Amino acid sequence: MSANTTPVQLPAGRETVTVKLINPVNFGPAILKRFMGPDVPGLETFKDSPSFSFLLEHPSGRKLVFDLGIRKDYMNHAPKIADYLPTTNYTIDVSKNVVDILEEGGVSPSEIEGVIWSHWHWDHIGDPSSFPPTTNLIVGPGFKKAMLPGFPANPDSPLLESDYAGRELVEMDCTGEQSLTIGGFQAYDYFGDGSFYLLDSPGHAIGHLCGLARTTSSPDTFVLLGGDVCHYAGILRPSVHLPVPETITPHPCNPFGTGSLCPGHAWEELQKSRGREATDTLFDMTFGGDIPLATRTVGKLQELDCLDNVLVIIAHDSTVRDRAPHFPESLNAWKEKGLGERLKWAFFRDLEVYWNLFPLPLVSLPKTQMPYLGRHFQPNMSAFGVANKDLDYDVLIIGAGLSGLYSLHRIRQLGLRVKVLEAGEAEGGTWFWNRYPGARFDSESYSYIFSFSQELLDEWDWTEHFSPQPETLKYIQYFTKKFRLKKDIQFNTRVKSAHFQTPSNSWLVTDEEGRQISSRYIITAMGILNQPTLPVIEGVGDFKGQAWHTARWPADHSALEGKRVGIIGTGATAIQTIQEIYKICGTLTVFQRTPNWTAPLRNTKITAEEMADIRRRYPTIFQQCLESYSCFIHVTDNRKTTDLSREELFAHWEELFQQPGFAKVLSVSTDVATDREANKLYSEFHANKIRSRINDPVLAEKLIPKNHGFGTRRVPLESGYYEAFNQPHVKLVDLHETPIERITEKGVKTSDQEHEFDVLIYATGFDAVTGSFGAVDFQGIGGQKLKDTWSGGIQTYLGLTVMDFPNMFMIMGPHQMFGNIPRSIEYAVDWVADFIEYARDNDVRFIQPTQEKMDGWYKHVERLGEGLLANEVDSWMTGVNKNLAAKQKRSLTRYNGPAPGYRKECDAVKERNYSDFVLG
Ligand SMILES: Cc1cc2nc3c(=O)[nH]c(=O)nc-3n(C[C@H](O)[C@H](O)[C@H](O)COP(=O)(O)OP(=O)(O)OC[C@H]3O[C@@H](n4cnc5c(N)ncnc54)[C@H](O)[C@@H]3O)c2cc1C
Ligand SMILES: NC(=O)c1ccc[n+]([C@@H]2O[C@H](COP(=O)([O-])OP(=O)(O)OC[C@H]3O[C@@H](n4cnc5c(N)ncnc54)[C@H](OP(=O)(O)O)[C@@H]3O)[C@@H](O)[C@H]2O)c1
Repeated sequence: MSANTTPVQLPAGRETVTVKLINPVNFGPAILKRFMGPDVPGLETFKDSPSFSFLLEHPSGRKLVFDLGIRKDYMNHAPKIADYLPTTNYTIDVSKNVVDILEEGGVSPSEIEGVIWSHWHWDHIGDPSSFPPTTNLIVGPGFKKAMLPGFPANPDSPLLESDYAGRELVEMDCTGEQSLTIGGFQAYDYFGDGSFYLLDSPGHAIGHLCGLARTTSSPDTFVLLGGDVCHYAGILRPSVHLPVPETITPHPCNPFGTGSLCPGHAWEELQKSRGREATDTLFDMTFGGDIPLATRTVGKLQELDCLDNVLVIIAHDSTVRDRAPHFPESLNAWKEKGLGERLKWAFFRDLEVYWNLFPLPLVSLPKTQMPYLGRHFQPNMSAFGVANKDLDYDVLIIGAGLSGLYSLHRIRQLGLRVKVLEAGEAEGGTWFWNRYPGARFDSESYSYIFSFSQELLDEWDWTEHFSPQPETLKYIQYFTKKFRLKKDIQFNTRVKSAHFQTPSNSWLVTDEEGRQISSRYIITAMGILNQPTLPVIEGVGDFKGQAWHTARWPADHSALEGKRVGIIGTGATAIQTIQEIYKICGTLTVFQRTPNWTAPLRNTKITAEEMADIRRRYPTIFQQCLESYSCFIHVTDNRKTTDLSREELFAHWEELFQQPGFAKVLSVSTDVATDREANKLYSEFHANKIRSRINDPVLAEKLIPKNHGFGTRRVPLESGYYEAFNQPHVKLVDLHETPIERITEKGVKTSDQEHEFDVLIYATGFDAVTGSFGAVDFQGIGGQKLKDTWSGGIQTYLGLTVMDFPNMFMIMGPHQMFGNIPRSIEYAVDWVADFIEYARDNDVRFIQPTQEKMDGWYKHVERLGEGLLANEVDSWMTGVNKNLAAKQKRSLTRYNGPAPGYRKECDAVKERNYSDFVLG
């Protein structure tokens, strides 16, 4: 929202230049108080800052580069700088010199007519000698007099003579023919056609220049290349011309979510606590050649910054690095793409610690309802809580896996009284319970991470492309600690019943110990794969050796060393377990009822360099996930298998097969999932891969699935699974040939023999999706049992709500989008939090969907599943678990369509102000 009090007239012009952002460097940590003040508690450093360059391409073919960042061989700077750098304690990560980046992008250095130095500081000047002598060096007013000569002629100079030797050194003259005034700046029309101006912007360093590039005409838009006019967006914003808006969307700390930040009151409090006004900038600058002059320059810039057709980019703005397109893409469509709005207040993400300290002001309560909050206010009764004063909590969450933890964070941000009840003794959910050797995800680690917090993204380094369970659990613990979630979690508390109460429109929740808690809302976050199931085989319990389910793995793995081990099951869990434990067992016998398709995971370590690159690519990664069918980074191939010749097809499949992760499952032609012939062909491709890895051809055939095609069950990915079966001490028992008759005291009795073991492992899966619900006695209006509501088929609206169970929201409930699950969790939690926020703001105390909406949703989900071969196969995804009497037949359990379609449906409900629901 612009409140420009002194509108600046920008010069008219028809010509534009193409502006491309290049970031060759990241360095830090920067200690804030060196550069700006007064300080904000909790915001002491910037971990790593970029230093931008820009390529400017004029339609005539002329090209300029604005700034060069840090040179790769920075220790070859002039001695004055080379000696100074170690004293900064910076880690300096220069991927390449700008000249190399340009060349790789097809721009020859000989095409560059000039390099502009915004100023002479070491982190902007790069290495001009890497350009040919035909490239001029362009500097600002006063530079030559103050800065020449460079080293070695002047031993104390921060510059090198070689920076400018042999090329024309052009000092900009703002008083000549092509000069003009833009706002308060003296300017120079570089190409003489209004496409690009240099602005004299003194103060930070002698001869400091900004650039103003016209990026579109009619209507005009501009990118202002700020250099170091100031070091941080918070030294420029807000201002009297550009106050902090009431709502910032998307939330700066969660740029990929649907939520907003309403900083008003919190912002005022923060400024007040530091002796500042709401329209004062966050910081004053404390670093620069002439600070009063530089401050006046910033004042002039503020008059341009408030214009919504000017995008100001300061050289070290990490939010631009993380959220704007980089070379070779152009920035020119920035306005059309909404980049201006996304970036202007993005620096507020750096105050994340502050927003967390101060949860209440984040909510968009009408100002009149907003209680006054002191600096250290901790809410114990929210404004909404006043309406719930007879209840223990506003919101109760069941489960402390990813779903429950993120729900807690979001609901807390609403300033509501919230508690998590968790059966386990610690947080982590799936990654707390499943500790078997080899447990890891097959989602790419960096797509399985929460995207809502830039700080969290910045701070967390993955060490493997597909993280193992211990590391994932550590990540969840780190997240829990960072957001101080534990204080609102009650561990060792298994919910046994939840009964809706009328007329209070609340839930009464009872745990195993009989303890009761009341709340307006409940959010179930109990996991889709959380209730382990043992096989229905006579004698389970008779075995006298050690036995356990994979989801209850004992802490001490040594029990397997050199032992005779049996494992029942060949699903995803068994595959991961077998390929690991066969290395330590004396003998390993695998009892296989149904072989599963599996293919190589191709996991590798992530180097520090790769991690830095991943971090820079996070926006792209999340965008890819957002657009993909099932929230993975892998893109669907919309061609049919018949569109390609056999040769092309097999070459394409081979290429996918060699890639890591789910490419071989998700990036094949979509008809593999729907067309029997296509699927048969692809299955045969994989069957041959298996044959090529198993020494014994008879054994190979046993390991190849025959009753379902590739991808029709959840395909687990493996690392050496088949090779395990080539070992003499590993044996496969095909239960179709010799079925299990019973478990005995000594082991497993099949139709032909008794297999004796020291340890017996059940990798027999879960009562998936609805199992956690079945374990709790949910009773809705009039004592209606959820079990009964779902006995004839699951009914939900959006997979998030159920009629007769008001004020209950399900995260990862049945009929909801799963896919790469954290992406779906973030969406579902944001959606629920937004709904509760709406209820709070509109004094709604009763929410439930109608039967009509549930019926419509069922039909919608069913229709999406038509033609999918996966729905013709028994698996947990089609609701089958042969060990459970109630799950012998297939049912509609999960959303069958694409994730973007799911989100579209839910977004539309929100846009209709939730009028699909009965609200009271
Ligand atoms: C071995 C394994 C590997 C997986 N790999 C992947 C993968 O690669 N990619 C992917 O996207 N997904 C994967 N998943 C799915 C995984 O479950 C989700 O990714 C995600 O962790 C689910 O988080 P959640 O919080 O919704 O549920 P969970 O992590 O299951 O957490 C639910 C929590 O609720 C608690 N709870 C349940 N009932 C009660 C009760 N009555 N009272 C109190 N507390 C209760 C549980 O103790 C648990 O802590 C995998 C699952 C398994 C089992
Ligand atoms: N990221 C990962 O790599 C990963 C790892 C583990 C789990 N997961 C997730 O968790 C899901 C569940 O995996 P899961 O392996 O735990 O369970 P699962 O896929 O349901 O596999 C259970 C296995 O146990 C067998 N089984 C069950 N009862 C049996 C009985 N009475 N006799 C003989 N065999 C019996 C099943 O055989 P039948 O097929 O014949 O029923 C099947 O092989 C996966 O699909 C996946 O979504 C992911």
